[in-house]
Amino acid sequence: MNFLNPVPVAVNNQSLRVTNLAWDFLKPIIKPGDIVVDATAGTGQDTLFLTQCVGETGHVFAFDIQAAALKQTQAVVEKNGFAGNITLVHKSHDLILNVLKQQGIKEQTVMAIMFNLGYFPGGDHAIITKVETTIKALNGALALLASGGLITICLYPGHSGGLEESEAVINWCEKLEKPFISHHFRTLNRKSPPTLAMIQRTR
Ligand SMILES: C[S@@+](CC[C@H](N)C(=O)[O-])C[C@H]1O[C@@H](n2cnc3c(N)ncnc32)[C@H](O)[C@@H]1O
Repeated sequence: MNFLNPVPVAVNNQSLRVTNLAWDFLKPIIKPGDIVVDATAGTGQDTLFLTQCVGETGHVFAFDIQAAALKQTQAVVEKNGFAGNITLVHKSHDLILNVLKQQGIKEQTVMAIMFNLGYFPGGDHAIITKVETTIKALNGALALLASGGLITICLYPGHSGGLEESEAVINWCEKLEKPFISHHFRTLNRKSPPTLAMIQRTR
């Protein structure tokens, strides 16, 4: 797998956003018909991206603990005509492994799992992802991840509780052993920039 080809479209004359960078890494990996997960649906932008990647023959599971986020996600995918291939899960993502198994999804069959941590931009900023549930969700995601697949994690150290969570996730990523490879991308000359961690299951 060559991660430098194609060149990420997030690298242009705009400020490079980790959310766009995650999409650029995922685009060449996700194929029509794949099973994928958005572990933090929020405004629905990542879910919409995933539904477009997997097409009508694939399936997206989108988790969020907030009904308002799932409502917005449903509206976004419906508006864009992609509502047929998603299951909205109004549960915490730490249940990811059990929920997907109950849906008949086997371990090592999910090509992409996106985490975009923090708070729902349009909602209560006090409701945030938490270290304990995030790490449990990541362990479930590892079990589900297919060979050649990718977990992306956008981290936001700038909000209250965000630095602790970012450090816990990076620490967890650093300890992963084969067949996993973990990566971390960050902007160097900004204070507390969002960063992107990624995990591959190698073939
Ligand atoms: C930064 S937003 C996600 C942005 C989203 N991916 C998008 O495209 O707009 C983080 C989301 O995680 C959700 N969240 C917080 N804790 C969660 C948990 N334990 N399980 C699932 N979702 C959670 C929040 O409700 C919020 O909507």
